[in-house]
Amino acid sequence: MDLGIAGKRALVLGASRGLGKAIAQGLSAEGVSVYAAARSVDKIAAYADGVQGLQPVALDLAESEQVEQIAGDLLRSGGVDIVVNNGGGPPPGTAQAATREAWLSHFEAMAANLFHLNTRLLPAMKDKGWGRIISVTSSGVEQPIPNLALSNGIRSAVVAWSKTLANEVAGDGITVNVVMPGRIHTERVDELDAAAAKRTHTDVAEVAAKSRMTIPTGRYGRPEEFADVVTFLASTRAAYVTGSKIRIDGGSIKSI
Ligand SMILES: NC(=O)c1ccc[n+]([C@@H]2O[C@H](COP(=O)([O-])OP(=O)(O)OC[C@H]3O[C@@H](n4cnc5c(N)ncnc54)[C@H](OP(=O)(O)O)[C@@H]3O)[C@@H](O)[C@H]2O)c1
Repeated sequence: MDLGIAGKRALVLGASRGLGKAIAQGLSAEGVSVYAAARSVDKIAAYADGVQGLQPVALDLAESEQVEQIAGDLLRSGGVDIVVNNGGGPPPGTAQAATREAWLSHFEAMAANLFHLNTRLLPAMKDKGWGRIISVTSSGVEQPIPNLALSNGIRSAVVAWSKTLANEVAGDGITVNVVMPGRIHTERVDELDAAAAKRTHTDVAEVAAKSRMTIPTGRYGRPEEFADVVTFLASTRAAYVTGSKIRIDGGSIKSI
C-alpha cells in the first residue's frame, strides 16, 4: 500500500526515545522529512545520524517560550503537514494526593503548550488543505489506571481537545486523532517494571511476566507496531479517519 506521504513534513514530539523515536523513524522510512523534538537532542542526533531528512530539534514542552520559538521557526520554513503530539508521562499518585501545583504544571507541559503549538501550526495546514494531527495518550483515558490520577485527568483533556478540533477542521482536509498505547515495550516500561519490582521486593522478570498475563495477546507491544498505526493515520490513505480514539493495546482495555 502506498501511503502517499513521501515529501511531507512532520513534527514528532517526545522523539528522543520510545514511542516518539519509533514514530519519527517510521515516518522517515516513508520519505517524510521529520523534525524530531525532545530535550535530549543528543539522543535524537545519534539515531538521526546519516538518515536523510531526519532533523533533531531541542525542545522542552514545559517551557512556553521554547514552544513559541519552535512554532515560529517551523512556520517561517513553510510549516508542517503532520504533527505527532507526544511527550513524557507525569509522576504516579492518587487523585487525593495530587496538588493544585502539580495539576497546573503538568497540564501546561502535557496539554496547554501542545494545544498552543498545534493552534499556531494549523493555519499553514489549512492553506495547503491537508494535515494530520495525532496525539499519543494512554489506555487510561478509556479505563482510568489506578494511582495515575494526573495522567488519567490530563490525557482525557487531550482527547476532548482532539475531538473538538477534529470537528472544526475536517472540512479543511485535516484529520485529528488520538492513539492509546496499552503496554508498549519502551525504556519507560522497563523503568516502571523495575520500580514495581523494587517496591514489592520481587524480581523484575516476575513483575513483567505478571503484567504480560493481564494482556490478552500475552506480550507487550513493540514500538514499531505502535508506530505503524500512527504512520497509517498520518497517511493519505487514512483521510476518512478523524475524531477517533484508536487502541493499540493488545486487547488490554476491557470495555467494548
Ligand atoms: N509505553 C507505553 O506502554 C505507554 C503506555 C501508556 C502511555 N504512554 C505514554 O506515551 C508517551 C510515550 O511513551 P514512552 O514509553 O515512549 O515514554 P518515554 O520513553 O518516557 O519517552 C517520553 C519522550 O518524551 C520526551 N519528553 C519528556 N518530557 C519532555 C518535555 N518536558 N519536553 C519535551 N519532551 C519531553 C522524552 O525525551 P526527553 O527526556 O529527551 O525530553 C522522550 O523522548 C508517554 O507520555 C507515556 O506516559 C506510554
